[in-house]
Amino acid sequence: MNRLTRGILLKNLRAITQEMSRFQSDYASFKKILDKAQNIIALTGAGVSAESGIPVFRGAGGWWRNHRATELATPEAFQRNPALVWEFYHYRRNIAFNSIPNNAHYALALYEERCKQEGRQFHIITQNVDGLHFRAGSKEVIELHGSLTKVKCTKCKFIDVNIDNPICEALKDKGDPIAKDTNESQIPIDELPKCSKCGSLVRPYIVWFGEMLDPETIEKAMSLVETADMCIVVGTSSVVYPAAMFAPTIAERGKPVAEFNINEEPASDDFKFYFNGKCGITLPKALGVNL
Ligand code: OAD
Ligand code: ZN
Repeated sequence: MNRLTRGILLKNLRAITQEMSRFQSDYASFKKILDKAQNIIALTGAGVSAESGIPVFRGAGGWWRNHRATELATPEAFQRNPALVWEFYHYRRNIAFNSIPNNAHYALALYEERCKQEGRQFHIITQNVDGLHFRAGSKEVIELHGSLTKVKCTKCKFIDVNIDNPICEALKDKGDPIAKDTNESQIPIDELPKCSKCGSLVRPYIVWFGEMLDPETIEKAMSLVETADMCIVVGTSSVVYPAAMFAPTIAERGKPVAEFNINEEPASDDFKFYFNGKCGITLPKALGVNL
């Protein structure tokens, strides 16, 4: 087969695939449905913050020194070496706190404001821990996986807001992600961040691998999922449960789901709309907000 024939065949194949898939990419039809919806959920993942310079989880960038990020984000790693895990989180807090929200965050915040004025419900359920939705002005945000802006006491379990950077003197200038000969942290435990109530060691308020989500948070999210009549899915690989089942559950009830991602295809065939591209560009356009 020569190159020309193969090119024509590929083009036809793409057209047939698009024809077969049921999703639409028409901004005007999406907007018409969105503006009538009464209970909207925006489900967001790492991709919504990618244009703010925060690395996503899957793909490159999942390493810190010679550790997989997913291996440090565990209760076992913290038990074994709290100083090393705190160095890793100091690094992540530093990135998040020095980043600024992008147009995708702002578009969601502005659309929420508009819904409020019109007496409609708009909630964000995010898997991100960077706090950028709040910093963009969103009010109704459920942080499913916790937040880098909070700490939890290992003893009395008090949850406190803490945006100090560095969070303690000993972590200043620590957490270099490529330092080669510093696999072990030299920081003594009693110099790590402490609880403002009882003085014990605190940990980042993050749901680590192998841990349960906070029951109250998940309950709130589930009840929003049950009543949603429209769902927007932005920048998530949709592989981590329970977040991965929220949008398909809404689609199964026959309600419209619109996905925004840089992938070629939507995460599910049941989604009504799919907008391919960087969400900092596609989302403001789709929501029709003036930034
Ligand atoms: P992932 O890193 O798995 O997926 C990021 C998604 O964003 C991918 O589908 C990308 O194609 C998409 N993406 C990247 N840049 C984008 C852009 N500019 N515009 C639109 N889409 C873009 O991140 P999550 O799905 O959020 O959990 O990962 C879910 C959870 O897995 C995380 O919360 C974390 C991790 O394990 C915990 O830490 C508990
Ligand atoms: Zn305490």
